[in-house]
Amino acid sequence: MQSPICAMLDIEFPLLAFSHCRDVVVAVSKAGGMGVFGAASLPPERLEEELAWIDAHIGGRPYGVDLIVPNSFAGKGEEKAPCPAIPEEHKAFIASLLEKHGVDSNSVGGVSSSLGDNMSDAGAAALLEVAFRHPIKLIANALGVPPPLMLELGKRHDVPVAALVGTRDHALTQVRAGVDILVVAGGEAGGHCGEVATMVLVPEVAAAVAAVGADTPILAAGGIVTGRQMAAAMAMGAHGAWTGSVWLTTAEAETNPVVKEKMLAASSRDTVRSKSRTGKPSRQLRSPWTDAWEAEGAPKPLPMPLQSLVSEPALRKVDKLSEVGHEGAKTLATYWVGQGVGLMNEAMGAGQVVQLFKTDWIAACERLNGFIGD
Ligand SMILES: Cc1cc2nc3c(=O)[nH]c(=O)nc-3n(C[C@H](O)[C@H](O)[C@H](O)COP(=O)(O)O)c2cc1C
Repeated sequence: MQSPICAMLDIEFPLLAFSHCRDVVVAVSKAGGMGVFGAASLPPERLEEELAWIDAHIGGRPYGVDLIVPNSFAGKGEEKAPCPAIPEEHKAFIASLLEKHGVDSNSVGGVSSSLGDNMSDAGAAALLEVAFRHPIKLIANALGVPPPLMLELGKRHDVPVAALVGTRDHALTQVRAGVDILVVAGGEAGGHCGEVATMVLVPEVAAAVAAVGADTPILAAGGIVTGRQMAAAMAMGAHGAWTGSVWLTTAEAETNPVVKEKMLAASSRDTVRSKSRTGKPSRQLRSPWTDAWEAEGAPKPLPMPLQSLVSEPALRKVDKLSEVGHEGAKTLATYWVGQGVGLMNEAMGAGQVVQLFKTDWIAACERLNGFIGD
């Protein structure tokens, strides 16, 4: 396909798949798109193992790595800073929420004692060092302008650097910083997202980028789970699509099976954009867990990364128990997913999803062509 994204990344079809699952990354790249491995929560030695596995299985096809190095978070700049005290109110709130659903709050691992190491500049540098030892063809950063080291390593290794943006102004800041690809993520997206819908944000950013005389390619993200949506985004100025949610219900994904079933049954109204998981707004499946944080009298979520330090151990416990049939845990279980979940109704292989994107994309283009008179 004639898209600058295909030329830049050496791929056949400009569909990128963000995933924490190495099997999804491999399947998508082998099917002609590009898998991007989400490395944010892994220590460097685990990232090394995962990338070595990908190298051994991907048959030389291109793949990318994604990190989260936010510009600002509680404790930023204080490498190895001791964790600020988590308010008793938050601990008690979570304990009572778990107990209400029959989950023994004493069995939840304690609050982690160090700040999110991978989010600090030093932590990110260790992950970057591992990533660039492998034949990656893309490096991406969520939540802000990539750290200077990422931009520098990208240039040195001739690897394009992508950055996620949720507003027009953030997009222009990224263009000025020198990123090679903009991932323009609308408020429908799973995970961290802004407020403006993909339908509005993509043409807004495309126009703003053109107005400053830049030609930075755009990947549209947020709510895209079909080829027809990808075609629509490309009609609005994007050069391809960046997706996350649609891979969560694939056969290769390691999503908690209980959550997978919830996703397959969910409608587009069953997600919520909430600070309750990480401290920054992120879209996730609505459950009594998210409802409780939205309810009157609930504590205000702590700033990133402190909220994750209290919520993740509890949610991990919930996941574990739900997988062995604990009814309360099954009710509470949730995970990040976007509004496109309403269109994700059938489990299938990741390669098959790529093929469906391709045929649906072509059908959408033909449909549009059909509207043009002789
Ligand atoms: C489960 C999940 C985890 C995510 N984690 C990250 C992450 O660590 N880094 C990142 O850049 N984006 C992350 N995202 C956002 C995706 O990169 C992407 O922007 C988003 O999924 C696109 O919207 P969609 O979910 O509607 O396809 C995550 C998304 C999901 C669904």
